[in-house]
Amino acid sequence: MKIGVISDLHIDRHKRLTPEDYTHELVNAIQKRKIELLLIAGDISNNYKLTHKFIYDVETQSHIKILFIPGNHDFWATDTDASSAEILDYYMNMEACLIGNPYHLNDSWAIVGNTGWYDYTYASPEFSLERIARRKYYGATWQDKVKIDWPMEDRKLSTIAAKQTIKDIEQVKHKHIILMTHIVTHPRFAVPMPHRIFDYFNAFIGTSDFDAIYQQYDIRYSIMGHVHFRNVFEEQGITYICSCLGYQREWRSDNIAQEINHALYTINI
Ligand SMILES: [Fe+2]
Repeated sequence: MKIGVISDLHIDRHKRLTPEDYTHELVNAIQKRKIELLLIAGDISNNYKLTHKFIYDVETQSHIKILFIPGNHDFWATDTDASSAEILDYYMNMEACLIGNPYHLNDSWAIVGNTGWYDYTYASPEFSLERIARRKYYGATWQDKVKIDWPMEDRKLSTIAAKQTIKDIEQVKHKHIILMTHIVTHPRFAVPMPHRIFDYFNAFIGTSDFDAIYQQYDIRYSIMGHVHFRNVFEEQGITYICSCLGYQREWRSDNIAQEINHALYTINI
C-alpha cells in the first residue's frame, strides 16, 4: 500500500489562494502519485470547522481514506464558539482522528497518532522554566499562549499526551507501528542552535516524553510536523519523517502544485 504523508498545510494563510485551491491541488497530487491512504500530521488551519471540512472534501474528492491528528493551530479557539478542550472532543469524534483510535492497516502494521505537546526540554539550558513559561521573548509572543485555552500547563499536557499514546500503542503492540505526532519527538528536528530566537522558542517545538516509547515498542516510522522542515532520516531502524508544506513565505517557489509535490512523502507498506 502506498501511504502519503504531509503536514502543516495551513490552508487559511496564503495571501492569494483559498482553502479550496489547497483541496484541489492535494487531490491532484494524491491521484497523480496513486496514493491509497493519506496521513496528515496536523496544522491544517486555525479553525476546527475548516480543518474538518478540508478532510471531508479531500476524502470525498480523492476517494481515499485520510487519517490525521490535530496540530496546535487546529486547536486555536479565538475565532470559534468552542474552547480548545471542546475542540479536542470534536476531533476525537471524527473517524479520521487517530487520538484514542489506533488504525489497523493489516495483519502486521498499525498506525497510532497523538498531537503530543511541548515540554520545554528543547530550549537552550540558559533559560529557566519560569522564563520559558512566560512564552515571550524579544518582543514576540508564542501565539498558543493567546489562542489556546488548555486548562493546564504545557509540561503536564505533554505527559498526558505521552500516556494516551502508550495506551493506544498497547492496543496494537504486537504489530509494527507507524507513529504520528504533530510536536517534534526527535531533537534532530529542532531548529539548530545557537539561534538568536530559537534558543528560546525551541521550548515550544519538541518533547522528550516520547523517548521511552521508541525504546519500548516496535516503532518503524515516526512522522511529525510543527517545525516546517522537509526532511527524512533513519536512526536505529526507525525512519523519522518531517514533511511540512509550511507557509507561503517559506516556499521556494510560488507554485502550490510543486510545493505540495515536494513536501508530500510516500511510504510503501
Ligand atoms: Fe504547529
